[in-house]
Amino acid sequence: MDSILSLQNISKTFSEKPGEDLHVLEHINLEIGHGEFFVLLGPSGSGKSTILRIMSGLEKSYSGTMQWENGITQTDMSFVFQQFALLPWLTVYENAEMGLIMRKDLTADMRRVIVMKELRELGLERFAHAHPHELSGGMRQRTGIARAIATNPKIIFLDEPFSEVDSFTARELRKDLLAIWERRKMTIVMVTHLIEEAIELADRIAILTPRPGKIEKTITNPLPRPRNIRSPESYKLEDEMYAIIEP
Ligand SMILES: Nc1ncnc2c1ncn2[C@@H]1O[C@H](COP(=O)(O)OP(=O)(O)O)[C@@H](O)[C@H]1O
Ligand SMILES: [Mg+2]
Repeated sequence: MDSILSLQNISKTFSEKPGEDLHVLEHINLEIGHGEFFVLLGPSGSGKSTILRIMSGLEKSYSGTMQWENGITQTDMSFVFQQFALLPWLTVYENAEMGLIMRKDLTADMRRVIVMKELRELGLERFAHAHPHELSGGMRQRTGIARAIATNPKIIFLDEPFSEVDSFTARELRKDLLAIWERRKMTIVMVTHLIEEAIELADRIAILTPRPGKIEKTITNPLPRPRNIRSPESYKLEDEMYAIIEP
């Protein structure tokens, strides 16, 4: 397998109560390449978060095959969530350190070097001793990103990471995320419901149908980087994507 992660013919039904099956995903096939920035785009309820949970091994009940490349384990993966998922009683530093605490090969001093480097990279150094409630939404999500990258993951899953912050902050965070990805060359799988966001960030975009989620189309983003999302080429791609979503 050349890809770092693949889904073959994945279907998923939630069976909460007998006779009330919820068919969520149907025949999902995806191959994610090394270092690729892959975006899952679809309406609410189309099963995007469920796909990330299956890819990351959190969700184990489904039909079909999910494969990680040989040598990849769950410790090579990190998550960034829409709701930030920070622990309110911990400081920014302690939240960012969380993924490293279990690592027996790292001393507290070694963790400090790593965490402070990530906090610096995200402009959070001054806030290291602040608690999440003292921060803006953007700073909270920067903390979520710092936590995710501190473990030096091979794959990062981001689930609508910018939808809880205002659009100005979201623009900055997208730039920061791109800079991190370009520097570190990890694989990113990100979920969004925003076409413009997908166009700005993705190498490839899988468009999902409403529930049960099927892959309507996978598009290779032709726009060169760095991208101008207000260019005629970008608007053209946006039109093409709208035509797929609302034919
Ligand atoms: N643990 C669960 N039990 C029952 N239904 C669920 C569960 N998780 C998600 N669902 C349902 O599955 C559908 C897809 O959910 P989700 O993957 O969260 O979609 P998306 O992220 O695209 O909004 C939704 O209708 C949701 O209510
Ligand atoms: Mg979701």
